[in-house]
Amino acid sequence: MKNIPLPSTSHQPKKYAGPSAAEVAALRKQFMNPGIFLYYKSPIMIVEGSMQYLWDDTGKRYLDGLGGIVTVSVGHCHPHVVAAANAQNELIQHSTTIYLQPNVALFAEKLASKLPGELKVCYFVNSGSEANDLALLMARAYTQNYDVIALRNAYHGGNASGMAVTGHSTWKYNVPHSFGVHHALAPYPYRGVYGYDEPDAGKKYADDVKSLIDFATPGKVAGFIAESIQGVGGFVEFPKGYLK
Ligand SMILES: Cc1ncc(COP(=O)(O)O)c(C=O)c1O
Repeated sequence: MKNIPLPSTSHQPKKYAGPSAAEVAALRKQFMNPGIFLYYKSPIMIVEGSMQYLWDDTGKRYLDGLGGIVTVSVGHCHPHVVAAANAQNELIQHSTTIYLQPNVALFAEKLASKLPGELKVCYFVNSGSEANDLALLMARAYTQNYDVIALRNAYHGGNASGMAVTGHSTWKYNVPHSFGVHHALAPYPYRGVYGYDEPDAGKKYADDVKSLIDFATPGKVAGFIAESIQGVGGFVEFPKGYLK
């Protein structure tokens, strides 16, 4: 494959002086649970990042075309993020929600100002899985119903309740976890049961949700959970009219 040179950058990576990739692989093997797996036989070892670039232990630079959930918005070690995190780290690192702390309330206000419609109240958690676990608990507690409609081809997390609503065998273990969850047809224009050109696909897939409620639940559900665009399942945008 042809090597396309990267544009120049002013960022000078530090010379890496830590353990070698082979040593790190051996440490992982000995001290980390094998469930935390690597994707490649000889994975690169990333030791530094700046904006859109990453460097490996040999000083080789990469353009990060994959990103991670935490860095996908503004890149690696964005100076504004680093400055804000450093300033907070030097002031106080942790208190609890039972005391007042200005930043959490100010952040909630700022976040709410960016959210549409009636989405104006925040509840901060540590991860997507935890957010979905809490959402399911709130929906069940509020509605006094237990059943939930989820979608096939969905990913909602690796904890017990996230796995329950996930609709992909790759991310489900053979333990009981989906009690009360019903997976409707994936409204998937490219690989779904209704073709890409089916003008009524949105309504037809939504009819499957109605049918599940009518035939697989007591007629009432705690909620419906779906990614706005299915991510892990292959970047699936739902057909027009499905969600409204
Ligand atoms: C749509 C969606 N929901 C939930 C999760 C779980 O988030 P976390 O890994 O932070 O628990 C992910 C993670 O990739 C996700 O893509």
